[in-house]
Amino acid sequence: MSLKNYILDIQGFPKEGILFKDITPLLINADASKNCLKILVSSLKDKKIDKVIGVESRGFLFGMLIAQEVNVGFVPVRKPNKLPYKTISATYDLEYGTDTLEIHIDAIQKGDRVVIHDDVLATGGTIKAVCELVERLGGEIVQCNFIMELSFLNGREKVKEQEIFAVIRY
Ligand code: PRP
Ligand code: MG
Repeated sequence: MSLKNYILDIQGFPKEGILFKDITPLLINADASKNCLKILVSSLKDKKIDKVIGVESRGFLFGMLIAQEVNVGFVPVRKPNKLPYKTISATYDLEYGTDTLEIHIDAIQKGDRVVIHDDVLATGGTIKAVCELVERLGGEIVQCNFIMELSFLNGREKVKEQEIFAVIRY
């Protein structure tokens, strides 16, 4: 069965007018989530990778699993004031207001080849901010990968220079 069958459309969440793509039916199904992980990992075949980043919070779910599969360390990028050690931060625009993401300053070494994982590529604001954090620490971004890309929101345009991979496209 197509993995799209494990993504549930929720109309009006978190607010009116938004069609939310819920991944919990995928997570609850062991075969579907293993298949999703397999596809994410095969997209990295033959690439040299030093670290995998997962973006809080839904990017943590598969981010750590990908890191284990490719046998490298996992780095969390977190929402403000969650990481205990020294951090750098990047702020990005939302529909209303801004949001900030942070990374530990010693999480990436200069020249590290980094894969960034998140669950969804929507407007691209989040991934752009994470790319900025990695580049400021001297990392080289090998790929940005996602369970889903909402291509009608043109998120790719914000990170044109990056290789983007998504298991599912809408
Ligand atoms: C959602 C989603 C992505 C991001 C995509 O996260 O999990 O991280 O938005 O949107 P963008 O491409 O328009 O930036 P959210 O900030 O809602 O938080 P969560 O992962 O903690 O649920
Ligand atoms: Mg998120």
